[in-house]
Parts: sequence; C-alpha cells; structure tokens
Amino acid sequence: MINNSSIENYQTFTLGRFTFRRDEYFAYIHWPQAEHIMPIDQFLRALMRDVAWGFFYGTVNFDSVFGTVNYYGSVEVFAGKFNAAFVAKNLAFSERFDTDTIQNIFNHMLKDWTPAEFDPFAAPRETSTAFGKKKPGENMAIKRNRETAKRMVGMKDDSALRTDANGYPVNEHFADVPQDEPQVVVEPGFEGCLNAFNLFAYLSRSNVTWNPSITSVLKDSLFCPTTEEYILPVIHGNDRVEWFIQLSDEIIWNVEDKETGKPRAKVTMKAGDIAAMPADIRHQGYSPKRSMLLVWENASSDIPELIRQGKVPTNPVNF
Ligand code: PHB
Ligand code: FE
Repeated sequence: MINNSSIENYQTFTLGRFTFRRDEYFAYIHWPQAEHIMPIDQFLRALMRDVAWGFFYGTVNFDSVFGTVNYYGSVEVFAGKFNAAFVAKNLAFSERFDTDTIQNIFNHMLKDWTPAEFDPFAAPRETSTAFGKKKPGENMAIKRNRETAKRMVGMKDDSALRTDANGYPVNEHFADVPQDEPQVVVEPGFEGCLNAFNLFAYLSRSNVTWNPSITSVLKDSLFCPTTEEYILPVIHGNDRVEWFIQLSDEIIWNVEDKETGKPRAKVTMKAGDIAAMPADIRHQGYSPKRSMLLVWENASSDIPELIRQGKVPTNPVNF
C-alpha cells in the first residue's frame, strides 16, 4: 500500500506489517515490535541492488538488522531475524510475500525516494547526494537496464561496453589499464565465428559499482566480473559457495556468521588472490579504490536445498 501520495513529500509505504518512511537523512522501518533507522543513502544503494538483482542468491542484508531472503518465487522480509541481540529480546519479525508484490512496492519506493541526481550504482565520488527534501525530477539511473550482449563481447553487434568510439569512457581510476585488444587470426571459413577480447579494458569502462554482469555461461557456471569501489551496499548471506578472483587492486572482506552476525574472518584480497566464500556466512567488501573482481557463481537451483539437508558441505575444500 502506498500512502501520502504527494509531489512535495516523500511517500510512506506499507508492506504487510512493515511500514517504510524517509526524511531528509534517514529511512525508518517500522514493524510490530520496533522501529529501525538507516542512513538514506545506504538504504537506497541496498534497495537498488535488491530490486535489480531480483533478490539475489540467499539473503540480502541492508545492514545488521533489516533485509530479504530469496525463496525464488517468494521473498521473506525480515527485521532482527539474523541479529542475535534482536532475537534474544524478542524483537525479531519476518513476513513472506510473493516476489511480484514486494518487487512492486520496492520499485515504487525507489522511484519516489531517489533524488534525480543520485545514482545508487555509482561510487560516492561520482554521484550527487541522496539527502535532502523531495525535489521534482525523474531519476534515470534507477531505470538502468542490463545491457544484453547479442553476441560475445568483441564480436560484431556485441554490447555497448566494447572498446570502440561508441563505448563508455575509461574510468579515472583505470587510466593505466592497457586498451589494446588481442589479435585473432582465424582459419579461412571461420571468419566472424572466433573472437577474444581484453576483459581488463572492458571492465575499465564500467560505469557502475558492485553490480556483477554475466560475461560467460556454461551450464550452471556463471562468470560475473564487476568493478568495485567504496562499500558493497549489501551484506550478502549466500545460500551456496561463491568464488572470488581479485583481478586488480584490493578488496577487504568482513566475513560474519550468517545467522548471528558474529565476526568470523577478515580477508584482504590483492590482485591475483582467489577465495571461496562458504555458504554459512555473510560478507561485505570494502574497496579503497576502483578494483576489478570476478565473482564465480554456481546457479544450480538444487544447491540451497542440498545444503539445508546437509547433503553438500557449506565449504568447497577442507584443508
Ligand atoms: C557478493 O555478494 O558476493 C557480491 C555482490 C556484488 C558484487 C560482488 C560480490 O559486486
Ligand atoms: Fe556474495
């Protein structure tokens, strides 16, 4: 339900027994036992990803209190459920909704609450503020659609990120990334069928942060490179093992217990490092300058249930 519709004031939204409102600095989330407050820029960056990723794999924690769990068809919205202190004080609450219902409310919230000049996908140095009174104007950044390559990157008719005159400019932080493309020599008869491209050059032109794109699919194996800067806007509680390959620069990961939030590890990944994130943790990355990360996902829909039943382990390797 959407209340207080007005062009002067931010709207209040109701989803089941949750109520959401914003003012100049904060988002307020109310449920039967309590109310939670979050900085509005942090809330909008998390909301944008939750919506754009279709609620992602497993749990999307907006912070240590509020978030969503994807059941692939329905979505659980929770407050305090994965926070040991809220659980101990009986302040935890959750409710499940059809994916369409929550998607609709979250989309309206993004539209009403995101100022025209604030891009939730941009690094903080590349966008204006999320703070302040409601102003007229439509936000184009939140309407950004995934650019679907018609063919493999670098082939004729590929996506717009390619390194030609129509592509995006190289990001300031990646000015040192060589832009030369590999030379491909094809046997006669195979022209237009075989290609290679410079992934570093491709990523150096990405204009979003913390938004994995899929560049290769082989059965359930998804290669999702991405460019990162500042803080991953969600604390991701995965429902499967996930691999990270640090392609450039450095990301520091805080790793916590998925259920309670108790700290488990701090992982500093430098260029060339590879890590597997277990399926029983939540993690949040900090990237001091723009960096390139390859996220490798196993998209098999069987995995969450196999893990719940204890048929596959939560970690990929035992040393
Ligand atoms: C993750 O939760 O594993 C994740 C999400 C977005 C990224 C990188 C990693 O850009
Ligand atoms: Fe993750």
